[in-house]
Amino acid sequence: MSQVGTDTAKAAAILSQGGLVAIPTETVYGLAANALDEKAVLRIFEAKQRPFFDPLIVHVPSLEKAHIYADFPDERLKRLAASFWPGPLTLLLPKKPTVPDIVTSGLPQVGIRVPDHALTLSLLQRLNFPLAAPSANPFGYVSPTKAEHVRKQLGAKIDYILDGGPATVGLESTIAGIEDGILCIYRLGGLSLEEIEQVAGPVELRLNISSDPKAPGQLKNHYAPRKTLLLGKTADLMAANAGRKIALIVFGKSAFANKAAHVFQLSENEDLSEAALHLFSSLREADESDADLVIAEPVPEQGLGLAINDRLRRASAR
Ligand code: TXA
Ligand code: MG
Repeated sequence: MSQVGTDTAKAAAILSQGGLVAIPTETVYGLAANALDEKAVLRIFEAKQRPFFDPLIVHVPSLEKAHIYADFPDERLKRLAASFWPGPLTLLLPKKPTVPDIVTSGLPQVGIRVPDHALTLSLLQRLNFPLAAPSANPFGYVSPTKAEHVRKQLGAKIDYILDGGPATVGLESTIAGIEDGILCIYRLGGLSLEEIEQVAGPVELRLNISSDPKAPGQLKNHYAPRKTLLLGKTADLMAANAGRKIALIVFGKSAFANKAAHVFQLSENEDLSEAALHLFSSLREADESDADLVIAEPVPEQGLGLAINDRLRRASAR
């Protein structure tokens, strides 16, 4: 069983020797290894059972360090990095030869971000290499927002879990890049489109195409819980499944709360940021409960609501 703690010196020593450490970030927990050590990176794919065609995000402590690994060929990319790093934004950038091909699955671009978490920033500052880190969940399952989620699912395969408390954003980073001169969003996430557009102008969504090598992790049924999750109008779904034991995931207050065996309220005051924060742990707990199935209703399609609904749709896909 792996150890859980807050010792960044220990984490740094393990990583320097090619080990695996789970790291806290503001979005979700990552499963990290030295991005420049191909053998160490291989261990990430093994631990997660992740296919090699799915590239990894490289985490650096500052914008300055990002320049060692990638170019910023467009003003908008520079502005986004300057405005939102550290933060929940990953930029796809032309990679420099310093980045091993296994990290990018042979693609010419590398995903880079500066995570906004004090413990992980201090870890990154201790290291003389960046950290490749996917979300610390078995491939295809819900991302972990607490150290305990990581320990339960991957604990035996990881050398150390750096416990930085619960995530403060709760959704993975938004992924952006430039293609044919257009600012494209490849994954909706913890930074809203509105915030991105304010800094860098109009964006185009290029989500959801599982055959598109630009976003191989965006499979239709990524984030899938094991139980069936039905997404739609609560009233209709509850009526159609009367008599069954239901775990209900609701945005705010719900008239159907007393008809469900378990109720997960994402945000009492219907605040989308708070809902984002509670989404993955609610999905997990609903999945682990004794309910027969999970019912959820989409949240308002604005701000972080787009990313929340995206995850709910994927969780409901079979
Ligand atoms: O918030 C996050 O981004 C978290 C934390 C740990 O940083 N990480 C995360 O990593 O969500 P992961 O591997 O679970 O999702 C990364 C997504 C995948 O869909 C992957 O295909 C895409 O980013 N990606 C990474 N590098 C890429 C590249 N070079 N080209 C295209 N897509 C890339
Ligand atoms: Mg992931």
